[in-house]
Amino acid sequence: VTLPPRLSVASLPTATRRLTRASEQLGVQLWVKHDDDTGGVHSGNKIRKLQYAVHEALAAGADTLVTCGGLQSNHCRATAVLARRLGLDVTLCLRGTAPARLEGNHLLDTVLGADIVLWTPDQYRDHEAGMASVADRLRAAGRSPFVIAEGCSMPAGCLGYVEACREIAAAETEHGVQFDAIVHAVGSGGTTAGLELGVRLAGLRANPVGIPVCDDAAYFRPRIAKLCADTAARYGLDVHVDPADIDLLDGHGGPGYGITTPPQIADLLAAARDDGLVLDPVYTSKAWHGLRHEIAAGRFAGQTVLFLHTGGVFGLFPHAEALAAAP
Ligand SMILES: Cc1ncc(COP(=O)(O)O)c(C=O)c1O
Repeated sequence: VTLPPRLSVASLPTATRRLTRASEQLGVQLWVKHDDDTGGVHSGNKIRKLQYAVHEALAAGADTLVTCGGLQSNHCRATAVLARRLGLDVTLCLRGTAPARLEGNHLLDTVLGADIVLWTPDQYRDHEAGMASVADRLRAAGRSPFVIAEGCSMPAGCLGYVEACREIAAAETEHGVQFDAIVHAVGSGGTTAGLELGVRLAGLRANPVGIPVCDDAAYFRPRIAKLCADTAARYGLDVHVDPADIDLLDGHGGPGYGITTPPQIADLLAAARDDGLVLDPVYTSKAWHGLRHEIAAGRFAGQTVLFLHTGGVFGLFPHAEALAAAP
């Protein structure tokens, strides 16, 4: 299958390596794919998705990117970096109130001069309509906006993880290994949808296993299935994903989006100290903590598991206090 054209901004392919200490400790063969290393300030999973979506924006003649997310959204920060690299304007609709101190991704958004609109949780609830009216206002002012879905979880974005599966196939050959599962954090579902399509198209044995960091499987399964169907239809991919086959493990999101717990922070620190795996508090450490729990419960016995590190390092900084207080 030939994928549509994309921008070439991310550093690809990303590296895959074995997690020696964690594998020994947990008794399961663990590997990591370093999508935290797709770039410097544009690092993480979102740039893979944005390479396809923003190519479409440019083809449509856009001069302004519009997107939305939480105050510390990695996706919004990556969108702002990419916009500026391309000489575009960018409007970010962020859920939250003005903090006393600029930190993490929000600080970077400000450094990049993004036009930031702050929405209350209530205003954010219908973010699609909200972004449509932001786009209307921009058009009325003579601009050509292009709206990117939350998390870039839209058909063009999913192609980024269809492509990543080709890299995983190449890594299997390079390292002489076959993965049984690709464990990853789920925030808006596009990564999972791309992986579901990608493993089928690349003929991988591996089963994508998503760990929701907010909401739950009942919320995500139909959304991911729809993203798979829409992506396949839009780009003529001959692949069907049955919703029942989308593997999502509930119970690892903790008290809520962006809220950490001491055991999760302990696992974050252990990963950093054992294997140099620097996770983020909001997404990847919840997936990692969940993976450790599931291994302890026997779920991955005898398997070779690929942990997809989707990035988020700038999210560490706003959690400095909790991290510093941990033993
Ligand atoms: C670091 C990081 N990991 C994982 C995710 C989840 O990916 P997705 O939104 O495709 O489900 C996100 C964004 O939501 C993220 O920023």
